[in-house]
Amino acid sequence: MERFDFLVLGSGIAGLSFALDAARAGTVAIITKKRDSESNTNYAQGGIAAVLAPGDSFEAHVRDTLTAGGGLCRPEVVERVVRLGPDQIRVLARRGVAFTPSDDPAVPFDLGREGGHSRRRIVHARDMTGRAVEQALLDRARENPNIRFFENHFAVDLVVTAGQDGRARCAGVHVLGPDGAIHPFGARSTCLATGGAGKVYLYTSNPDIASGDGIAMAYRAGAEVANMEFMQFHPTCLYHPFAKNFLISEAVRGEGGVLRLRSGEPFMDRYHPMGCLAPRDVVARAIDTELKRTGDDHVLLDITHRAPAFVRDRFPGIWKTCLEYGIDITRDPIPVVPAAHYLCGGVRVDLAGRTTLPGLHAVGEVACTGLHGANRLASNSLLEALVYAEAAARDAVDALPGTPRPPDRLPEFSGTGTRPGDDDVVVSQNWDELRRFMWNYVGIVRTDRRLARARRRLELLREEILDHFRRYRPTPDLLELRNLGQVADLMIRCALARKESRGLHYNLDHPEADDDRWKRDTTIRRVRA
Ligand code: SIN
Repeated sequence: MERFDFLVLGSGIAGLSFALDAARAGTVAIITKKRDSESNTNYAQGGIAAVLAPGDSFEAHVRDTLTAGGGLCRPEVVERVVRLGPDQIRVLARRGVAFTPSDDPAVPFDLGREGGHSRRRIVHARDMTGRAVEQALLDRARENPNIRFFENHFAVDLVVTAGQDGRARCAGVHVLGPDGAIHPFGARSTCLATGGAGKVYLYTSNPDIASGDGIAMAYRAGAEVANMEFMQFHPTCLYHPFAKNFLISEAVRGEGGVLRLRSGEPFMDRYHPMGCLAPRDVVARAIDTELKRTGDDHVLLDITHRAPAFVRDRFPGIWKTCLEYGIDITRDPIPVVPAAHYLCGGVRVDLAGRTTLPGLHAVGEVACTGLHGANRLASNSLLEALVYAEAAARDAVDALPGTPRPPDRLPEFSGTGTRPGDDDVVVSQNWDELRRFMWNYVGIVRTDRRLARARRRLELLREEILDHFRRYRPTPDLLELRNLGQVADLMIRCALARKESRGLHYNLDHPEADDDRWKRDTTIRRVRA
């Protein structure tokens, strides 16, 4: 059995940052289901929000975050994360991230603007910020002798044992290795950094790995989960028959990009005083409304009025990718549609990133910290991941002397079959079905009937998935499907519970916010037998 001081599940900005800090005090294993560089972070185009400009203030960033969050942000969390923003940018720069420099000597980095922000405050590496951050952190982690990577290792379920005080405690994780067998990994401290769950929906900006594994595992292990109804739909993903998951960054609108109907008519001023730079929930819903009204299948994002040299230099990744699909964004408006992008809910954590299950921290998109409330402000998520990774690592390191080593032997994994699966079509059929009804019934605009339909279909589907899981030897595809089913169930239950509309949860049967009954989180927890 593999044993470490710290186990980190996931290798994006949150997991790598946690690992680098924790490695100062002990041995770290990073477990990742694909290659170490395959993470949601890699796909983040926009950047990291931080107060760095002379005209900006912490108060303004706090205010923008609270406004976007629709009354559900935890003010003490917002205050803390925002105030630590500039320090976190400096840490990343020290770790080797090459942010785009500013021409203005008063500001160290060029600052972009995105929806819901009243000022320019997005630090970026042109339109490939995530990749720049991921690469620098991976380089630092790879050169660290205390960190070992386990690529192509799929975390199946957390191992929960009785701690010294008799309470349930996370003692590690069962992992499906590349050899097809499930192995226990023991640790004194485990950190979930597995990212989000965009793949629960038919259309998403997320890469294929975003299957909600950490949330599903934490829930099954008895940790509290919150606010799963708040899936953020990014307003502008490329609409093209061959383009999969390609985001057109909000920074394009930050640099003057205009949303237009296919007729050429701009429409966002009819929906919000901030027009195209309104918070994301407003923009995504406006596009959805216009698509339903006109019967069109996409709208247009137009940046053709800016100088071609500026567009190519500021958005080299978007320009190049769109060109591959025959769209020259310096001359052609870009066809776009909304797509599932970021889950604001997740595994509930406190200010130190502790979940309600002792021995388990959660950082990054998998966690629900209280920063985003009912709707995340653009580019606050990488910042949150950094602040919480540091806090969680500090907490785990401080607790290390009093934390027992995991037992020499952990229980073997039980509950799954050993026969080779004979029915791949069951997995792919269930996967397609789930993502399609989640998109149609639990999407941007919901109703009680649609949610109830989704619940009925999911019940049947989950029965089939669990039956398959019990009979056959698990594969990564089956494990992802099992997790997607679990996460979809949590989303539907939270969405059905919230009888109002707020932030990203919009229900036509309850179109107003109901502060008296619902200005609170939706929490959910499995009672372990
Ligand atoms: C974007 O570049 O539009 C995405 C940024 C984010 O989701 O925070």
